[in-house]
Amino acid sequence: MSQAKATILVTGGAGYIGSHAVLALKQAGYDVIVLDNLVYGHRELVEDVLKVELIVGDISDRSTLDQLFSTREIAAVMHFAAYIAVGESVTEPAKYYRNNVNGTLTLLEAMVAAKVKQLVFSSTCAIYGMPKQVPMTEEHPQDPMSPYAASKWMVERMLADFDQAYDLKSVAFRYFNASGANPEGLLGEDHNPETHLIPLVLLTALGKRESISIFGSDYPTPDGTCIRDYIHVGDLADAHVLGLEYLLKGGTREVFNLGNGNGFSVKQVIETARAVTGREIKAVERERRAGDPPILIGSSDKARQTLGWYPQYPDLSDILSHAWQWHQKRHG
Ligand code: UFG
Repeated sequence: MSQAKATILVTGGAGYIGSHAVLALKQAGYDVIVLDNLVYGHRELVEDVLKVELIVGDISDRSTLDQLFSTREIAAVMHFAAYIAVGESVTEPAKYYRNNVNGTLTLLEAMVAAKVKQLVFSSTCAIYGMPKQVPMTEEHPQDPMSPYAASKWMVERMLADFDQAYDLKSVAFRYFNASGANPEGLLGEDHNPETHLIPLVLLTALGKRESISIFGSDYPTPDGTCIRDYIHVGDLADAHVLGLEYLLKGGTREVFNLGNGNGFSVKQVIETARAVTGREIKAVERERRAGDPPILIGSSDKARQTLGWYPQYPDLSDILSHAWQWHQKRHG
């Protein structure tokens, strides 16, 4: 397989989803170069665990990109590098537009100049805004409710225009709630600060936090707490390899949802975490968090049909037990 030797540039490969994608790429036989500014990424994941080349640099630095593209034979780019904190994006929108939009524009311009014309992009279901129906398909109206979501939406717009004008082909994946960890315990989620439900629940189980807050228990859902579609990060990583191969075979620009199509409430997540960890996890009901839709569930039929993507770990218990294994190793 000649494609199996291609070199793929992974921006943000030292982060949570990026590092899992690097592992999946390696396992599929690709050579990988990681570009990461290490503001939030973890050097040791790339150098010691994944053992791939790390270039410490920024997607906004055109000279780093030009140097990379001119000296290395890069077949395609997987682009994860971005700021992701929804709440912070509301108070510091400039940070999000500068990094996520402007930085990506610089990357795309460098790719076009170097004639690297295939990109897999890390997008989000947050671009849909408040759901009008569930499960949400790719045709759901788009109405981003935060600068973070808007920044991802703007990049998707740029990708459409770059396809038309410069023939840059892309696959954008709109993730639902990325969660879990590598089943062998090699990689996992390690954000600082951490804002996501599952790691916070597990840090509580470890005794690193006193309790988990339930943000709102008066939503119009069966148990009153928000429902989300949790998708295993290893399944996301597999989808990225399939998306890449789709492009390398000449696929046209596409967007795909990535979710399980199942929803679990905040209380169900906490209950399942108690069962998986065997620990008491103190939960405290608090006010709603601003901007949280009651239910987010995605339809991933298109990714199944077009890419042949089938999640291996749709079970919430698997997602939590893999994440638990990682958290015990990382923080235990
Ligand atoms: N939650 C709590 N307590 C916490 C943390 C979260 O009850 O301490 C709740 C939230 O209110 C929400 C659910 O748990 O109802 C999941 O929250 P997360 O913060 O884990 O995930 P989000 O659904 O808010 O956000 C995720 C990604 C975003 C992405 C978004 C799309 O983290 O990057 O999905 O909706 F934009």
